[in-house]
Amino acid sequence: MSSNRGRKPEHPERTRACAGRACKPHTDGPHPGFEPGTLLLEGGQCADMAMVCLTDFEEYAKEHLSKATWDYYAAGADECCTRDDNLLAYKRIRLRPRILRDVSVSDTRTTVQGTEISFPVGIAPTAFHCLAWYEGEVATARATEALNTVYITSTYSTCSVEEIVAAAPGGPRWFQLYVYRDRQLSEQLVQRVEALGYRALVLTVDVPYTGKRRNDIRNQFKLPPHLKVKNFDGMLQQDNAVPEEYGVPANTLDPSISWKDVYWLQSISRLPIIIKGILTKEDAELAVEHGVQGIIVSNHGGRQLDGGPASIDALAEIVDTVQGRIEVYVDGGIRTGSDVLKALALGAKCVFIGRPVVWGLAYKGEEGVKEVLQILNDEFRLSMALSGCRNVAEINRNLIQFSRL
Ligand SMILES: Cc1cc2nc3c(=O)[nH]c(=O)nc-3n(C[C@H](O)[C@H](O)[C@H](O)COP(=O)(O)O)c2cc1C
Repeated sequence: MSSNRGRKPEHPERTRACAGRACKPHTDGPHPGFEPGTLLLEGGQCADMAMVCLTDFEEYAKEHLSKATWDYYAAGADECCTRDDNLLAYKRIRLRPRILRDVSVSDTRTTVQGTEISFPVGIAPTAFHCLAWYEGEVATARATEALNTVYITSTYSTCSVEEIVAAAPGGPRWFQLYVYRDRQLSEQLVQRVEALGYRALVLTVDVPYTGKRRNDIRNQFKLPPHLKVKNFDGMLQQDNAVPEEYGVPANTLDPSISWKDVYWLQSISRLPIIIKGILTKEDAELAVEHGVQGIIVSNHGGRQLDGGPASIDALAEIVDTVQGRIEVYVDGGIRTGSDVLKALALGAKCVFIGRPVVWGLAYKGEEGVKEVLQILNDEFRLSMALSGCRNVAEINRNLIQFSRL
């Protein structure tokens, strides 16, 4: 895997936005003669960008994606308080490192739902990867297969599940599902992904309606005509009287979804069910009582209810309630290896990242996602060692300075 991490900029212009060809988003194919991830310096010289941390990818994506695409990925609901707090909450947490514990050998491997992954960071489901990179979810799937971690494919993918599996047949993959008014639509998707070897269903429960994302409304966000929600090809009735919302008719989701739909899902599939979007101990207890196999503590990256808690702040009460009966994961605001360490110390079995993946795609497609994952892996390994942990089993709550919370 190519990597230019850690290199010092050799030219003061390096951190400036590139000009000309390089400014075009790489959504329609690679541009001849242009190597993505390079900057065009004054005088037409190209230089590699130094990508050291995940926010470098964020800056690159912001500079190179169209405004509407950037705004769509970055969006939070309403005033974005919860979106922003997802990140700030990690910064409030302080660690209690242990020393002199021989950290010369470290092991970041763990398991999720019985499957071994190389480190406890997976890919959260995010929609429309072809907006960031012409190969879209196929590139994401290849990167996660190479790094051996889990990829939760969004229903709202711009490549079909069949294309994704053909591109990366070996990667551990879960499928994210919504419940639609037309239950047959959900049912057919479940049958397809089960037949394709997806290993779990991730039922997203925090979208009875789509949150109000102001910039998407201002930009009148729409998928460009050459892209579509590929998984629904030929499955949706087109009614011109119903406006489109994020690539599907606005009334497709079922706001009457309730706990009985978990039983319904169990009746049509043998796959483990993971509920994504739980933020309280009450709902965590109900999830266990309804026989699901996992919970993702999540506020949808702050894109749904503004004013809800940062997901990391909701984690501990859920872990305490669940008491190890099912696996608990968390997503939202994870940007560094020490964020991963903090989430695991507070009881998450694994974390998931959303926006950093589309930033990686915008940077260099498959290679960009690999770099994002590799940087997080390296940082996590370093944070583990600097806090005296040799493997993930040694990460526990003693690492957290609770007096500061
Ligand atoms: C652009 C974008 C699209 C998303 N699409 C979906 C989706 O299709 N299904 C879903 O369950 N969650 C979706 N999410 C939420 C993510 O799965 C995840 O909860 C969130 O991005 C985590 O926060 P982070 O972006 O700070 O890592 C989306 C998030 C973003 C930013």
